[in-house]
Amino acid sequence: MPKYVVGCCLLVLVIFASIAITVVGGSTYMSQIPRTELAKEKEKIWGHSAWSVHDPWMTGDHAPTLAGKGKVIFIREGCWWCHTLLPEQTQDWAYFGEPPLAGDVQGESPSLFGSDRKAPDLLHIASRNRVKAWHYVHHRDPRAVTPGSIMPAFKHLTDEELDAIIAFLESLR
Ligand code: HEC
Repeated sequence: MPKYVVGCCLLVLVIFASIAITVVGGSTYMSQIPRTELAKEKEKIWGHSAWSVHDPWMTGDHAPTLAGKGKVIFIREGCWWCHTLLPEQTQDWAYFGEPPLAGDVQGESPSLFGSDRKAPDLLHIASRNRVKAWHYVHHRDPRAVTPGSIMPAFKHLTDEELDAIIAFLESLR
């Protein structure tokens, strides 16, 4: 057999072996982390299908709660594009609060870490602002309460959708 054929076969083997080790190693590592009490509590608050939005059974016992529906809308509307749910290890721990532990988000899919932060972190928003009326006005017209805000006005959301988003925000203590 020509040497280059042997070389190619070995290369392909090494590539596939690396991918397999990464996939198996990665998923084994995550599944070894036990879920914290907070993770279990949040799954109850949101409903199972909001904990993992890939759950195909979104009805009956698996139906998302009001806060869970809010979480799904949070994903749909791209709030995570600007807002993280992952305070960084900087001086802002003092303001935004502690970051989550790996076990706090174990099995959550997708996790709402966000893309990169362009707006305040919301992991503990309910610990600093639980004024419903403020959130209603702010979502419909951010500049009415925060002059100069770059947050879009979410005028297209129905009252029910806004109720759900605010219930979700209230669950972020
Ligand atoms: C284009 C970026 C952007 C998007 C998208 C966005 N926001 Fe914001 N948001 C901001 C900025 C900037 C602020 C800070 C200024 C202000 O209060 O409006 C903010 C503030 C907030 C606050 C108050 C935070 C605090 O610490 O007081 C909440 C709550 C909030 N946004 C929720 C949402 C939700 C829910 C969505 C999706 C429906 C969303 N935002 C989408 C940029 C964004």
